Amino acid sequence: MSSLALMRWLESAPERYDSGMRLLTLGRVSALHDTLARTAVSAEGSHVLEIGCGTGSVTRLLVQRGARVTALDQNPEMLEQARRRLADASPGRAELIEQTACEIDTLPDSHYDAVVASLSLSEMSRSERAFVLREARRRLRPGGLLVVGDEVVPHRKLHRFVHSALRAPQALLGWLLTGSVSHPIPDLVHELRQAGMEICGEQRWLLAGLAVVTARRKP
Ligand SMILES: C[S@@+](CC[C@H](N)C(=O)[O-])C[C@H]1O[C@@H](n2cnc3c(N)ncnc32)[C@H](O)[C@@H]1O
Repeated sequence: MSSLALMRWLESAPERYDSGMRLLTLGRVSALHDTLARTAVSAEGSHVLEIGCGTGSVTRLLVQRGARVTALDQNPEMLEQARRRLADASPGRAELIEQTACEIDTLPDSHYDAVVASLSLSEMSRSERAFVLREARRRLRPGGLLVVGDEVVPHRKLHRFVHSALRAPQALLGWLLTGSVSHPIPDLVHELRQAGMEICGEQRWLLAGLAVVTARRKP
């Protein structure tokens, strides 16, 4: 499956979100979350900011790896699921905040060791994403990491064709069910560079339609 176009529909029913996402990604979403958490937490006590935490899968993994996490999401129902998921994780290790990603400019500057965004940036408009990425960079301490996993447009023509063909019916269904769909990010690496980040690495999964990109705030 190369498309996550039904994500929005799953978000409208958070209790089925996790199992739905496992199905849509043929189980790859768990590997994605593991990779993001492993990359973001370099040491016990690292302070991580998470943008669009949803039901808290990545948040929990970050906490289990010893991080202190500030996680934000604009959807109160998704946050409620996250609270349940984190109830038995180390108390006081995760702070969940209901706010939009654009409000990250209210959080402290040069403070976090890592910022993580899993499948949330593709739900933003290009201008919103540009603002959020610039502000995310500012929230990082110099040398801190921005770790993004998201749906992207494949580089190669053939992959783009297969990706679009597989995506179309899901996108239509997603639009019929919710009135909106996520948009694969055309050039995530370029957008991260535009935000002033230095690219450390990129992995592509699912016919190159899912990317994990790690970038660093220059010291
Ligand atoms: C597809 S879900 C991903 C959830 C989780 N990060 C994961 O990987 O399972 C996207 C989440 O991002 C949140 N989101 C999207 N745009 C946002 C924005 N502008 N501000 C805050 N949260 C946002 C949605 O509410 C949703 O919970």
